Amino acid sequence: MRIAVIGSGSVGTGLTKSWSKLGHSIAIGSRSPGSGRIVGLVTEIGSGIEAATVAESAVGADIIVLAVPWSAAEVSIEALGDLTNRIIIDATNPFVKGLNLEIGHTDSGGEQVAKWATGAHVVKALNIVDARLLDGKKLNNREITIPICGNDPEAKKIVANLITELGFDVIDAGKLEVSRLLEPLCLLMVKLSMKKTLGNEIGFRVLRD
Ligand SMILES: NC(=O)c1ccc[n+]([C@@H]2O[C@H](COP(=O)([O-])OP(=O)(O)OC[C@H]3O[C@@H](n4cnc5c(N)ncnc54)[C@H](OP(=O)(O)O)[C@@H]3O)[C@@H](O)[C@H]2O)c1
Repeated sequence: MRIAVIGSGSVGTGLTKSWSKLGHSIAIGSRSPGSGRIVGLVTEIGSGIEAATVAESAVGADIIVLAVPWSAAEVSIEALGDLTNRIIIDATNPFVKGLNLEIGHTDSGGEQVAKWATGAHVVKALNIVDARLLDGKKLNNREITIPICGNDPEAKKIVANLITELGFDVIDAGKLEVSRLLEPLCLLMVKLSMKKTLGNEIGFRVLRD
């Protein structure tokens, strides 16, 4: 698949490395695709990768991944242009200063992204996994669970396959509105990961028979 990854930070780099190893072609959508840092990143990761402006990266992409800080989500979506019928993975969390959620209870970042990205099929996913584990690392011999949600069943199926390929355990949590629950769950994970006793590598797993 051709995947546009918007943002070249921890999440963008982690996903780019892992999906490119699986043979997907990645365009990193960056504010500065010609910078030394991004050119170095593309060289380091190797074939199947290119860097482009945010708008160019999405041209011909099957999937667009939003991996930018919440404060940059709206402007990044605007830069992507017409998103009608495009599939967007929203990996962001609407965090604001002091590790708080900007939106919650009656709205969510995922739903807000869908409002900004008019006509797109938004799937909330990958927002509750530490970027350092995006190679699908197993914890205690078990895959980390990645809950996803969205309103378009076909888009969710495509996204679920891409995330399963990474080595995760995907659960369809329902409609996009479930982002209201998935975003606070990330906050819990961040707070737990700050407890030194738990170590750096933690993730959630839904146990079942
Ligand atoms: N870190 C995690 O473990 C983790 C896990 C799950 C979800 N998330 C969520 O995923 C999103 C990205 O997290 P991250 O840790 O990858 O962030 P990050 O390391 O800070 O990287 C974000 C990237 O977004 C791009 N960007 C665009 N506009 C920006 C702006 N105004 N200010 C700063 N960067 C801007 C930058 O790439 P260019 O310079 O190339 O444009 C930057 O490298 C966040 O919403 C976060 O909550 C993070």
